Amino acid sequence: MSTPQPVRIGVVGAGLMGRELAAVCGRWSQLVDHPCLPQIVAVADPQPAAREWFRRVPSVQTFADDWRALVDDPTLDVLYLAVPHDLHEDLYVAAAQAGRDFLAEKPFGIDLSAAGRIAAAVRASTSFVRVSSEFPFFPGALRAYAYAASGALGDILDVRSQFSHSSDLDRGKPINWKRRAATCGELGVMGDLGLHVAHVPLRLGYLPETVYGMLDNVVTSRPGADGSGVDCDTWDNALLACRVPSSTDAPRRFSMLWETRRIAPGQMNSWSFEALGMDGGVRFSTRTPTTLQRFVRRDGEQVWEEVQPGNLSAWPTISGGIFEFGFSDALLQMWASYLAERAGGLGDRFGTATVDEAVGAHRVFDAALRSARSGSAEPPVS
Ligand SMILES: NC(=O)c1ccc[n+]([C@@H]2O[C@H](COP(=O)([O-])OP(=O)(O)OC[C@H]3O[C@@H](n4cnc5c(N)ncnc54)[C@H](O)[C@@H]3O)[C@@H](O)[C@H]2O)c1
Repeated sequence: MSTPQPVRIGVVGAGLMGRELAAVCGRWSQLVDHPCLPQIVAVADPQPAAREWFRRVPSVQTFADDWRALVDDPTLDVLYLAVPHDLHEDLYVAAAQAGRDFLAEKPFGIDLSAAGRIAAAVRASTSFVRVSSEFPFFPGALRAYAYAASGALGDILDVRSQFSHSSDLDRGKPINWKRRAATCGELGVMGDLGLHVAHVPLRLGYLPETVYGMLDNVVTSRPGADGSGVDCDTWDNALLACRVPSSTDAPRRFSMLWETRRIAPGQMNSWSFEALGMDGGVRFSTRTPTTLQRFVRRDGEQVWEEVQPGNLSAWPTISGGIFEFGFSDALLQMWASYLAERAGGLGDRFGTATVDEAVGAHRVFDAALRSARSGSAEPPVS
């Protein structure tokens, strides 16, 4: 094995996801023969407490209150940009214009037009940019994707891609930036969870031709800092019914549902993907992460069979192949994929979401917003 290339990372946004990256870097030795060795060396966040948390990470040398300090620092190899959605455009465009490589957090701009401007800045730059989406790195999700991509399903009938949690079930939960249109975006839950359900279908080439959006704002006010009610003006739940041109059986269209819910009683944090075709089917959910199911017709019977994918994700690890896999493993794998692809060493392994996929997802969400206004199915704009 050759010596891994050190990668100096700057984190912009030292909140939930910035801290997750610190944990990912701390257990990098779990990966076998990875070409890179990432270290967080700089953090930018206007909140002192958020920055202070990073004092526990010995490699961090720079603590900045302004992201400019990191975007303008040529000694950093990669930036991880994990800030509220209303800040994406200015930050991502500046990072691209400065030629910085970065992993962008979703949704990649507060709306479709912001995503388009960011994508244009990335295209005009030398930056290597991908967008965060970790759930497809669950071994069962990767196997489900590979099975669908192999053509084993035959002519597609139905696709269902879901991400549901219940963190907003409590009406007394205080307001935060993710629950306000000004900071999260009019997209609401689609901005929050949407790329997670879009990534695999878009990678499979399932491009919606029309979108019917059923959007639901259930909790319209939440307690502010002083306990009084503050407008909670984002969509809590979104169900998108899409018609998708069949690539194998033109001019048929198949149906595809994208579901994102912050209020899904009984769901802690469940991502799932299911596709059914004339010759086969596949389904996987993070609720049952150790198994995926495949539909086959055998000896005149219709059979859903259960497969245990083990602990085999995109990049090999020292962990036993029979050991269980979880959310933080998926994040580690996503980062392994991003940094290996950047280093030219990903090979045919699964790559994290591209800029085109993030913009493609935005096109579908934009159509859903228009559909909710018009009451009709709407086409994504090209
Ligand atoms: N991939 C995932 O699974 C996942 C999960 C949660 C959130 N996210 C995404 O990550 C991003 C951040 O979400 P989060 O949950 O970490 O939010 P968070 O609120 O926990 O953290 C955001 C941080 O950004 C900081 N910040 C605000 N303004 C800033 C500025 N001008 N410069 C630098 N930092 C600034 C805040 O002080 C805060 O510490 C969002 O785009 C969100 O959609 C992704």
